[in-house]
Amino acid sequence: MSTHIAAAPGQIAPVVLFPGDPLRARWIAETFLDDAECYSEVRGMLGFTGTWQGHRVSVQGSGMGQPSMSIYANELFQEYDVQTIVRVGSCGALTEKVGMRDIIIANGACTDSGINRVRFHGQDYAPVADFGLLRRAVEASERMDLDHAVHVGLLFSSDQFYSTRPELTEPLVRHGALAVEMETSGLYTLAAYYDRRALSICTVSDHLVTHEETTALEREQSFGDMVRIALEAATT
Ligand code: HPA
Repeated sequence: MSTHIAAAPGQIAPVVLFPGDPLRARWIAETFLDDAECYSEVRGMLGFTGTWQGHRVSVQGSGMGQPSMSIYANELFQEYDVQTIVRVGSCGALTEKVGMRDIIIANGACTDSGINRVRFHGQDYAPVADFGLLRRAVEASERMDLDHAVHVGLLFSSDQFYSTRPELTEPLVRHGALAVEMETSGLYTLAAYYDRRALSICTVSDHLVTHEETTALEREQSFGDMVRIALEAATT
């Protein structure tokens, strides 16, 4: 096992779906995978491996924010030789161009985090998605009959869910950021470091401009659409 994941070598598939919430990991495994088995319960951060349409796939909870997510991504890439990670998460819309339950496929991520400032000695770095995964996700979404729009664009990976200075997102939105979440910048950076593939797909769970809300059923349905896009992109 690695420091935070209790799997034996070979128990984790080369393709991993990566939700923040460990109970979402269980829901994805039970809903989409055949013969899913739990390989880790360390700190309640559940991980499962099963098959989807004959492909071995794992689902691993990442926790919230870049520090937690980075622990699991580092160990998946370094200790378990994982080749592909697709984050399936939620985000808060920052612009009326994006509606509730829409799906955002992130081609890149900006951040207010200090992690990459330390990593790159104060220089700016532009974390980007794997182009092949991105293209296959877009193609998969075009084949599906979805109730909500799919956007390809920029996410803002914030270190704070409860921001003390929400006005600081204004220049980011002015320069194209569509929504805020807390992990993608770190995931794309680590995938680049390990020379592996990563993609982040998020559904809009809350709207910071219109303050709309949705039902649990609507949330579950659009989350399922996102998981199908992720599975198709990662296994084709
Ligand atoms: N902020 C940060 N992360 C999020 C949000 C948000 O509003 N919604 C979903 N993830």
